Amino acid sequence: MADPDPTSPSPAPHKRRKRYAGKNPRKFADKYKEHDPERYAGDVAKVIASGKTPAGSHRPIMVTEILAALALQPGETVVDCTLGYGGHTREMLAKIAPKGRLIGLDVDPIEQPKTIARLRAAGFGEDAFTAVRSNFAGLPKVLAELGLTGADAILADLGISSMQLDDPTRGFTFKHDGPLDLRLNPTREPTAASWLARVREADLAAALADNADEPKAELIARELVAKRSITPFTRTQQLAEALREILRLPPPGRGVETDDSPLRRVFQALRIAVNDEFGVLDLFLRHLPSCLQSGGRVAILTFHSGEDRRVKQAFKAGLRDGVYSSVSEDVIRARGEELRANPRSSSAKLRWAVRA
Ligand SMILES: C[S@@+](CC[C@H](N)C(=O)[O-])C[C@H]1O[C@@H](n2cnc3c(N)ncnc32)[C@H](O)[C@@H]1O
Repeated sequence: MADPDPTSPSPAPHKRRKRYAGKNPRKFADKYKEHDPERYAGDVAKVIASGKTPAGSHRPIMVTEILAALALQPGETVVDCTLGYGGHTREMLAKIAPKGRLIGLDVDPIEQPKTIARLRAAGFGEDAFTAVRSNFAGLPKVLAELGLTGADAILADLGISSMQLDDPTRGFTFKHDGPLDLRLNPTREPTAASWLARVREADLAAALADNADEPKAELIARELVAKRSITPFTRTQQLAEALREILRLPPPGRGVETDDSPLRRVFQALRIAVNDEFGVLDLFLRHLPSCLQSGGRVAILTFHSGEDRRVKQAFKAGLRDGVYSSVSEDVIRARGEELRANPRSSSAKLRWAVRA
């Protein structure tokens, strides 16, 4: 038998897929088809058709309504303050082509490089798309460093992406065990674990009430502070179990339909506190008029009352002071098919404003 030709490329090594129990993978890391949508398009389409978001991706919310509010024109300069998976960015890039430019900000050093790679692979070069790792509270500095005096349109789609939420190693979900982290930018302190270890009981109760409208904020704060002195909270499911005990909720997976909303609210409150989300939103809203050209449009998508209240008040004050020439009168909500197809759209609220 002839020796194999050393110059011919060797066949790609066969990779065994990970083994998992049951028909479909349940763990985030095992959902290998969903993590590779280009290769497994059919399987990913089935996941979407079932009303779920494929692992490792994010479906943009209220795209039609946002594009209507921003009224983008070819050649315009746009800022996507919350790049995420790049879903809104792609839609906006299509509207501003040819010769348009989009600046995409995100604080997440884990997901942002993947999104940049996807957008570059889709053909968006540096002339059309510039990615910046920055908090949107620093938008004036980002624009100044790029030599821009203002944008024609700005979008902020607040909160976290499905990729962040679904990845147990980021600690955003109580549904899987992971470190109690909840940082959008894991290079910045504190983690949720260290925040929860130090926070005073009264401040914890205030965070639960203000960040998530938690009706049992005082009880939960008192009990968590008592429990942490015995064992510090370091894992998501450890905290979830403690909350179930405090609120006398049945443990999950016993065939009983459990109401997880109190757990969701506590995790939301921690996330908002750890990332100072209200502080950066207030700063962003204050700087916003100076970041828009005259006639420039802004659209902001919020996911809970604390965020929406801030946006509503800032736009209303801006209209009164003549900073904005018009603002959305009512909040705009997702409708019909989108609500069915993407349950995450049900809490979304959209508001827009036009710079005078
Ligand atoms: C809801 S997702 C955006 C999804 C995106 N619109 C899409 O279509 O894929 C929110 C993103 O904003 C980022 N983010 C949240 N707060 C931020 C802030 N203050 N500054 C910059 N990025 C932020 C998060 O890391 C996350 O990637």
